[in-house]
Amino acid sequence: MRPMRPAAFVLLAWYQLTIPGLVAAAAISNVSNQDRIAPKVLIISMFSPEAEVWYINMPRDGLGDLLAVNIPTPGLSMRYPHVHCLANHSVCQVTTGEAEINAAATITALTLSDRFNLTKTYFLIAGIAGVNPKHATLGGVALARYAVQVALQFEFDAREKPENFTTGYFPYGTNGPEQFPSIVYGTEVMELNEALRDMAFLLAQKAQLTDNPDAVFYRSKYHDTRGFLAATLGPSVVKCDTATSDVYYSGTLLSEAFENITSIWTNGTGRYCMTAQEDNATLEVLVRMAIEGLVDFSRVIVMRTGANFDRPPPNVSAYDHLLVLQQNGFDIANQNIYRAGIEIVKGILAKWDCTFAKGVKATNYIGDIFGSLGGHPDFGTGSLTEGKRPPSMDSPGRSNLHS
Ligand SMILES: *[C@@H]1O[C@H](CO)[C@@H](O)[C@H](O)[C@H]1NC(C)=O
Ligand SMILES: *[C@@H]1O[C@H](CO)[C@@H](O)[C@H](O)[C@H]1NC(C)=O
Ligand SMILES: *[C@@H]1O[C@H](CO)[C@@H](O)[C@H](O)[C@H]1NC(C)=O
Ligand SMILES: *[C@@H]1O[C@H](CO)[C@@H](O)[C@H](O)[C@H]1NC(C)=O
Ligand SMILES: *[C@@H]1O[C@H](CO)[C@@H](O)[C@H](O)[C@H]1NC(C)=O
Ligand SMILES: *[C@@H]1O[C@H](CO)[C@@H](O)[C@H](O)[C@H]1NC(C)=O
Ligand SMILES: *[C@@H]1O[C@H](CO)[C@@H](O)[C@H](O)[C@H]1NC(C)=O
Repeated sequence: MRPMRPAAFVLLAWYQLTIPGLVAAAAISNVSNQDRIAPKVLIISMFSPEAEVWYINMPRDGLGDLLAVNIPTPGLSMRYPHVHCLANHSVCQVTTGEAEINAAATITALTLSDRFNLTKTYFLIAGIAGVNPKHATLGGVALARYAVQVALQFEFDAREKPENFTTGYFPYGTNGPEQFPSIVYGTEVMELNEALRDMAFLLAQKAQLTDNPDAVFYRSKYHDTRGFLAATLGPSVVKCDTATSDVYYSGTLLSEAFENITSIWTNGTGRYCMTAQEDNATLEVLVRMAIEGLVDFSRVIVMRTGANFDRPPPNVSAYDHLLVLQQNGFDIANQNIYRAGIEIVKGILAKWDCTFAKGVKATNYIGDIFGSLGGHPDFGTGSLTEGKRPPSMDSPGRSNLHS
């Protein structure tokens, strides 16, 4: 998530104190270790408000109570120690805690837990985000093909950067911005199943998205700025990509720098529209677990909704934009996680037998920059392994453990 401002943390505490379902959640059901839970859909939330919309609305809409089954799972966040499921286990939900470390740790613990079998599960990563006014707006819903870890770079404070640098960030192994890194960590770019993304897009489009007049007012400030038409329109569902950064950046120059890096690292095919603090970390774990056969990486959907613009409208300072003015996108972004997300969940359940059980075949490359799942990354100078799985990159290698 990218909370709007400190008020979001107040809101978080308030939610935790007032949602009656959480009290019921304390009653843990007894799930036998032998009887692994195999949800058709696992919703991944990053903090309480993103989770509450599912707890509150699913029963109200007659879709069942996500707090009906609550499974304590070692290694989850101290704040969110349970996986929650519908009574029939068809849908489960976990909250990771915010930013990259929490996301990676929670998803690692969950995917290695012996209480679950996630080999056929669809993962719906569904959170609020900062939004690029060029491609979407407050309350808008974006479904991603790429997740890019944009801040995985060197950084000079902008006051000390050389005159000829467009930004203080520049990729590892390079001597200036706007290049493909020559040293890669492997998590720079994640590519998802485009065919599944497109099916999710059609499902999400059935949603009646919500809006509010205060968000309409803030959007109108972008009205006469070239390239910001999308910002001024009402919420809709769009296809564009997500950037991950632990640093909650805000303002025109950093947003543009990361927009540029997204394009460069995806060989011109990625379109940066949402910012998040977790997606890349969650995806890295899912790639690793896919190598082990514990999850299917072609079953991952990243959906982000715009809670605040990543950069200010004309004549508004970066400071006022982030800290003073009310954008009023937080609540509609949260509501629209549910409204768009539930259509995707219902769509997967309804067509489980005929379509989703066997999977949606990816026609694009999927996976990380290493080509860890086979195939050849179609971004950048990407593949270190020419599409072969890379166990031998680690010396002496995993094979020794097995022999
Ligand atoms: C859980 O179920 C097992 C076997 O059915 C039983 O032995 C155990 O007491 C139960 N634990 C709880 C907390 O109900
Ligand atoms: C489980 O519950 C969901 C939500 O109520 C429902 O849509 C689904 O059909 C159920 N699945 C099975 C296998 O009963
Ligand atoms: C998980 O479920 C699949 C079928 O969906 C099955 O083939 C596999 O053996 C199960 N794994 C475990 C560890 O239960
Ligand atoms: C940018 O400036 C640095 C330091 O002044 C210089 O070494 C470098 O060659 C310049 N890079 C380009 C692309 O001009
Ligand atoms: C982004 O890229 C454009 C086009 O190459 C360039 O003009 C601009 O300075 C870059 N912005 C930043 C902040 O790096
Ligand atoms: C921004 O301020 C300048 C100078 O005060 C003014 O000319 C311009 O019309 C303003 N633009 C917007 C979008 O308000
Ligand atoms: C990047 O895109 C260009 C053309 O748009 C293409 O020729 C090149 O093969 C692509 N690079 C990779 C690594 O796929």
